[in-house]
Amino acid sequence: AMPAGEAVAATAAENSQPMAEAKPKADIPVNIYRPNKPYIGKCLSNEELVAEGGVGTVRHLIFDIGGGDLRYLEGQSIGIVPPGTDDKGKPHKLRLYSIASTRHGDKLDDKTVSLCVRQLEYKHPETGEMVYGVCSTYLCNLEAGADVAITGPVGKEMLLPDDENATVIMMATGTGIAPFRAFLWRMFKESHEDYKFKGLAWLFFGIPFSANILYKDDLEQIQREFPDNFRLTYAISREQQNAQGGKMYIQDRIAEAAEELWPMLQKPNTHTYICGLKGMEGGIDAGMSAVTSKYGVDWSGYQKDMKKQGRWHVETY
Ligand code: FAD
Ligand code: A2P
Repeated sequence: AMPAGEAVAATAAENSQPMAEAKPKADIPVNIYRPNKPYIGKCLSNEELVAEGGVGTVRHLIFDIGGGDLRYLEGQSIGIVPPGTDDKGKPHKLRLYSIASTRHGDKLDDKTVSLCVRQLEYKHPETGEMVYGVCSTYLCNLEAGADVAITGPVGKEMLLPDDENATVIMMATGTGIAPFRAFLWRMFKESHEDYKFKGLAWLFFGIPFSANILYKDDLEQIQREFPDNFRLTYAISREQQNAQGGKMYIQDRIAEAAEELWPMLQKPNTHTYICGLKGMEGGIDAGMSAVTSKYGVDWSGYQKDMKKQGRWHVETY
């Protein structure tokens, strides 16, 4: 197993490119399939991602989309329409899931799309009974060969810049890793004529236990192979402690790294992405703010500017 926190220190790659222009919107596929006429794909595989000793159920699902027109880009989401009806007898509404594969799919044949799905389970606040989420439970139990109703793609917030020299800072909790898996696979696992990543990617990943580190072997393999281009920092909330003796959350790792992050964020070709629990956002801002204020910079204004420049990307749920 990998030691806690940062395993390999890396030097920042050269970043000489000017700021990447926002993608022309016309290139982005959206709503190819709508809820009233979803694409019916097939489940090709459904694998558990939580190792022995971890909590909960998180599955990596691959769907065949080879028979239709569905196309997507890294960072987009698809809708899933669960079968059946709700308690009012109406067909279930769609749920959104971040796409975990690159545009080429896990089989590299442009014919699949993958998801990373946590089964929602919680105790009913009044009755104390266990409640299981409708769509996430349906997906987590889906068998290979089963049909699945897919809509989309949607989302223009989390797209990866074309700039091969960009610095890409990623902050994920739990299944928030999904779009970053797509990014990292495009950067480091696939080869393309028109995109050869030479910049720096830094992933901060918050999870409860080591056994909950989704895609752990792949992430650590990328780190071994590309130590100058990929940094990996875990926040393992129920195994590590922050400086105050509390749970180690992703925002604690951001606070620790903020002195190093601040110069990076000031480069025009640095993009920051946040995906997963909404609750992490306030802490991330607090951690950055503590450092920027030392340099006389108001973080919230700076962050708004980054957002305007298309360099601060948030998708929390
Ligand atoms: P539902 O049956 O719809 O139940 C959800 C409802 O349960 C909530 O609305 C709330 O009323 C109630 N509830 C939930 N928790 C509690 C609690 N602790 N106490 C009391 N009540 C509670 N999920 C993923 O697993 N992977 C992804 O990659 C992913 N990407 C997403 C991307 C986007 C853009 C968005 C918006 C959401 C994403 N989600 C993702 C979440 C996903 O869309 C669903 O919301 C999730 O799977 C739960 O759906 P469900 O049908 O299982 O739950
Ligand atoms: P914890 O559950 O120990 O409080 P998963 O989706 O696999 O449960 O992972 C989500 C991770 O995010 C867990 O480590 C969880 O910690 C952590 N987490 C929960 N609430 C917050 C929050 N407000 N800010 C940052 N991280 C959080």
